[in-house]
Amino acid sequence: MQSGAGLPASYIDDAYAVAGAELVDVNTAFSAEIVLKVQSPSEAELPLLKSGSVLAGMLDPFNTDNAARLAAAGVTAFALEAAPRTTRAQSLDVLSSQANIAGYKAVLVACNLYQRFMPMLMTAAGTVKAARVLILGAGVAGLQAIATAKRLGAVVEASDVRPAVKEQIESLGAKFVDVPFETDEEREAAEGVGGYARPMPPSWLARQAAQVHERAKLADIVISTALIPGRPAPTLLSVETVKHMKPGSVIVDLAAGRGPEYEGKKGGNCPLTEVDQAVMKHGVHIVGYTNLASMVAADASALYARNLLDFLKLIISKEGTLNIDLADDIVAATLQCRDGQVTRPASA
Ligand code: NAI
Repeated sequence: MQSGAGLPASYIDDAYAVAGAELVDVNTAFSAEIVLKVQSPSEAELPLLKSGSVLAGMLDPFNTDNAARLAAAGVTAFALEAAPRTTRAQSLDVLSSQANIAGYKAVLVACNLYQRFMPMLMTAAGTVKAARVLILGAGVAGLQAIATAKRLGAVVEASDVRPAVKEQIESLGAKFVDVPFETDEEREAAEGVGGYARPMPPSWLARQAAQVHERAKLADIVISTALIPGRPAPTLLSVETVKHMKPGSVIVDLAAGRGPEYEGKKGGNCPLTEVDQAVMKHGVHIVGYTNLASMVAADASALYARNLLDFLKLIISKEGTLNIDLADDIVAATLQCRDGQVTRPASA
C-alpha cells in the first residue's frame, strides 16, 4: 500500500497497517505484480510500472491513445468501466458505484449555489415554494439525484430515452417527462443495448428538445446525466434553452467534457458547460465538475475498493496465483492490453 495514498479520503496509514498491509513508498508500490489504481497512471507514474505487471482501475476504455500508452508500457491492463452490465458483474461495477455518488453530490452542489430553499415552507414570514428540479437521464446517477432531491423536499421530474425507466422514476415519487415514440425506428433505438442507451433518431430528439426546453424554463435546478457509451453525450440543454431559464437557476452537468465541441471546447449535455468549472452564463449557474465522486471521497473509496476486490477474485486463483482466463466474459471485456498489444477495440 502506497504510504499516504488514503489520506485525501481520510483513511490513515495506521488503519492499513492494522489490517495487515505493508506501507511502502511510491516506487515500491508501483513495482508490484498487480497494481490497483483509481485512474490511469500519470506520465510520472507510468515508467514505475514493471513490464508484465497487471494494472486495474478506471482506465478510460474508450480512450484509444491511453490504451496504446499502457500497451507500450508492457502492462496487462484492465479497465473496470468496460465490465458488462450483468448480474455477475454488479459487485464490481465501478460506473454504478461512482455514478450513484455523483448523482447524490450533484444535487448538493446545486443546492449550495441555489439561493432559495428546496422544500416548501410555511412560516410566519411567508410561504416558500418548493424548488422544481428537472433530471435529464435517469440511469444510476439520475435516479440517485431524483431520490436526493425528493428527500430535500423538491418537486422532481425526469426524462430518459429508455422506456424501462418510467416506472423507476415514478417509484421515486418523480414525474416522468414523456416523449412518446412515433415510429418503430424510435422505439427500437430507445430499447438500448446491454442496459445502455443508443443514439436516438433526430425526429425523437427534436421532440424531446422541445419538451426539455419547456420544462427547463420552469425549473430551478437541472441535473443532466445523459450519456451514450463511446459516443458524444447528447445535447439536451441548448444555448437558447439556457437563455430562457430563470435567473439564479442552476445546471449541474454530469456529462461535462463528453458532449460535442462548442466554440472549440467540449461541452456536456449543455454546450455552455465548462469542464471542472462553475460558471454563470445568461444568469444561470452551470457546473461542470467531472469528479463529483471525489467530493464524497471516503464512501467513494470504500465502494470502489469493494469493486476492485471482487474483480481481483476473477484473476487470482484460490492458490493465490495470477490466472487471466479470457473465457470469463468480465475478464475478456475489461482487458485493454497485454504483451504490448491493445486487445480491445475502442468501439467494442
Ligand atoms: P449512462 O451513465 O450510460 O447514461 C445515463 C442515462 O442517460 C441513461 O439512463 C440513458 O438512457 C440516458 N440517456 C441517454 N441519452 C439520453 C437522451 N437523449 N435523453 C435522456 N436521457 C438519455 O447509464 P448508467 O447510469 O450507467 O446505466 C444505465 C442503466 O444500465 C441503468 O439504469 C440500469 O438499468 C442498467 N444497469 C444494469 C446493471 C446490471 O444489471 N448489473 C448495473 C448498472 C446499470
